[in-house]
Amino acid sequence: KSQESVKVKASPRMFKEYFQYKGISFPRLIYSEQGLREVENEFQVQDDDVFNVTYQKSGTVWMLEILSLIHSNGDPSWCRTVPNWDRGPWYETVLGLQKARSNQAPRLISSHLPVQLFAKSFFQSKAKVLYTLRNPKDVFVSLYHFAQIFRPYKEPGQLDQFLQQFLEGDVPFGSWFDHVKGWMGLRDQENFFWITYEELQQDLRGSVERICQFLGKPLEARALDGVVENASFQAMKQNKMCNFSLAPGFLLDQTQSSFLRKGIAGDWKNQLTAAQSENFDRIYREQMQGLDLSFPWDEP
Ligand code: A3P
Repeated sequence: KSQESVKVKASPRMFKEYFQYKGISFPRLIYSEQGLREVENEFQVQDDDVFNVTYQKSGTVWMLEILSLIHSNGDPSWCRTVPNWDRGPWYETVLGLQKARSNQAPRLISSHLPVQLFAKSFFQSKAKVLYTLRNPKDVFVSLYHFAQIFRPYKEPGQLDQFLQQFLEGDVPFGSWFDHVKGWMGLRDQENFFWITYEELQQDLRGSVERICQFLGKPLEARALDGVVENASFQAMKQNKMCNFSLAPGFLLDQTQSSFLRKGIAGDWKNQLTAAQSENFDRIYREQMQGLDLSFPWDEP
């Protein structure tokens, strides 16, 4: 069954309602407790699965496009004919789980799950995880805009109030800090690779080469050109298979903003006040202290 043909039974009550699964909020419209339990306990990870894991708004669909293009040796045909949510389904969603199960190997699977809710069978497998992170201030700003157009999410209200919720982890998928600390705990494993949105911005070609190396799939120069060209913000904006123009109106209200919104690093500077930014820095320091890691957004 194609994703479009599956009818979602949604009652008005389900819109913007969250439920808790092991202390994390999920919007009821596209997730279910049963689905999350199945993903965690029953989903059979295969050794050749490739997982595109992120905290939301960190570059998920960008990495999905890069991985799809690498898979097709830089040829954009697949990316231009099949929606991204079918190429690399979010397996924790009700529809994504069906798709992930039925897709042919080698599968590409996306996920925003925190590590403690991820499929248990992954930890006994050789499947690969690529974890993409982004400056949390930009994640927050992107999420603030996204929450205004993504119907399953509650209205974010005033920025300041939503910022408090974000910093406390009181948003779907929980705390950014916990997500990052949880997944980065795997950083010494050879089937785990991490990269930042900012590195993709700075040097897309070099980043793609590193990703190919991790995947054990080196590409020739022309194929690499194909990946870089077709994964640019402009190219993705024009591709209806990844710009979410095919997303149904009951999920995404694209009259005010779009999924591929600005696509830049550092937009937080235009959106946060000095006081909000300082408060963010203070909590960031508290939460991340002792973590032996440096990111492009850290001060020298
Ligand atoms: P902005 O809202 O800051 O524009 P996710 O896919 O994890 O939901 O992340 C969405 C964010 O990634 C959006 O950020 C979107 O514009 C950005 N993005 C997606 N594709 C991109 C690309 N090719 N280049 C730069 N940014 C991209």
